[in-house]
Amino acid sequence: MRAGTFLKLNSKLRPNSYLARSNPGDVARMEDRTFIATARERDAGPTNNWADPADMRRTLNRLFDGCMRGRTLYVVAFSMGPVGSHIAHIGVELTDSAYVAVSMRIMTRMGRMVVDQLGADGAFIPCVHSVGAPLAEGELDVAWPCNNEEKWIVHFPETREIWSYGSGYGGNALLGKKCLALRIASVMARDEGWLAEHMLILGIESPEGGKAYVSAAFPSACGKTNLAMLIPPESLSAWKVTTVGEDIAWIKPGKDGRFHAINPEAGFFGVAPGTSVATNPNAMATMRANAIFTNVALTPDGDVWWEGMTDDPPEKLVDWQGGEWTPSCGRLAAHPNARFTVPARQCPSMDARWEDPDGVPISAFVFGGRRADTVPLITEAGSWTEGVYMAATLGSETTAATTGKVGVVRRDPMAMLAFCGYHMGDYLGHWLRVGRGVSAPPKMFRVNWFRRDSHGRFLWPGFGENMRVLKWIVERCDGTAGATSTALGAMPGWEDLVWTGMDGFSRAAFEELMRVDPIKWGDECQSHQELFDLLGDRVPVELTEVKDALRRAVSGS
Ligand code: OXD
Ligand code: MN
Repeated sequence: MRAGTFLKLNSKLRPNSYLARSNPGDVARMEDRTFIATARERDAGPTNNWADPADMRRTLNRLFDGCMRGRTLYVVAFSMGPVGSHIAHIGVELTDSAYVAVSMRIMTRMGRMVVDQLGADGAFIPCVHSVGAPLAEGELDVAWPCNNEEKWIVHFPETREIWSYGSGYGGNALLGKKCLALRIASVMARDEGWLAEHMLILGIESPEGGKAYVSAAFPSACGKTNLAMLIPPESLSAWKVTTVGEDIAWIKPGKDGRFHAINPEAGFFGVAPGTSVATNPNAMATMRANAIFTNVALTPDGDVWWEGMTDDPPEKLVDWQGGEWTPSCGRLAAHPNARFTVPARQCPSMDARWEDPDGVPISAFVFGGRRADTVPLITEAGSWTEGVYMAATLGSETTAATTGKVGVVRRDPMAMLAFCGYHMGDYLGHWLRVGRGVSAPPKMFRVNWFRRDSHGRFLWPGFGENMRVLKWIVERCDGTAGATSTALGAMPGWEDLVWTGMDGFSRAAFEELMRVDPIKWGDECQSHQELFDLLGDRVPVELTEVKDALRRAVSGS
């Protein structure tokens, strides 16, 4: 607070909570500044930025020389996963950012118990971070130090190290999250026979008391946090959804022949804009106290606001850059990638087993993207191999929150494009292998909440109504729900889903939502082929076979 990094919010409205405003050039993960440094370029694969490890070490040594001058060095010992869990791993982050140190305390289990767990010779992943803004003698600091010229987020998978320079924001700087729990962990998982995935984990309790856990992968900005904290609609209120995690899952084969998943994180680093009591009441309750808000707007009474939090904006605000804001000023009050950082244990929907060191058994994997057309609401894969194909060819339209042109379909295998620490083709082979190595692999499903009609309107209401799809998924897992076999896989008919409480939704709308257009699917297969062409000869031949069969099935030949 003394340095101006944090502004304390009104303790009556938002106890023990703080607002941080970043440098306007340091507002998001930077995929183009993220590198995988492996001895051989082909081991990083065509979807990663590769760097030569020796060159990279020279660059980093130059940059890190004296880079923390005048700052405090924090030594952050943290556990990804419950301390002592056989699924967990420990990291130690050195950082010169107080913002990072306190954020890591929310996002991970950190501190003395981790040092004790490490003992004298425990293994850990070294993570070195600097904002890259040394202070000269007597130089005044700024509220959000960072380096405007150079940013580097570098992974050395072969020696399991992370080095990050120049940014203080999110996944660039909180190194336990995307860098350790996904990029480095995906390499460890490949070597050790498990999965480190960009997935939420949720529990579903049926009215009869049955319980199933589902893990779901979606690219960024597809509503993972909302799905993980879903509240069923009134007509399905006998069902209950609980949260284990909302961004990352570490999944290991258990002795029982099933996959068991933990959430390696201890907090949520969620996108604030669009989050409201209407879209996600559990997230709103989670952030009622002990929260860090970054790049949101400040209300005159010392609380926070962002676009979508209320229907009507307040008359006056201070925007995310500290300027005066009124509804007519023509600027956004909060940055589109503004975030809340909150302890998971404050979330009302946390599952009783969310910290179970053995993880929770997974019944289904769900994969989804943002697609205005082509992809039906829900499809079940016919086999593990077909499910891996479905996941490998996951596509999502880019949004303002992601990089690139808005509305272009980007192929994002398992939603891991930005997070896989090795060759994506090998990663797909790894998926095939681990699934075949367990006797009871999860069933695999693909969903699309985002299909639109010819007027551009969403066909599906989403949010709580997604419970209807989740219910069908768990009933498919226990063999009680009906389905029709199609060219794409098994799909529910109108009578296989419950519609009570959704009176305005017509059978015709459902049929449009589930429609498989052979022309569009021909193009879709072509676009899958382009992904496989990019990945080259490391794409498992089984997946090419599934593609050929799919192409034949959709064209009716
Ligand atoms: C995230 C992301 O912040 O996926 O979780 O971008
Ligand atoms: Mn994510």
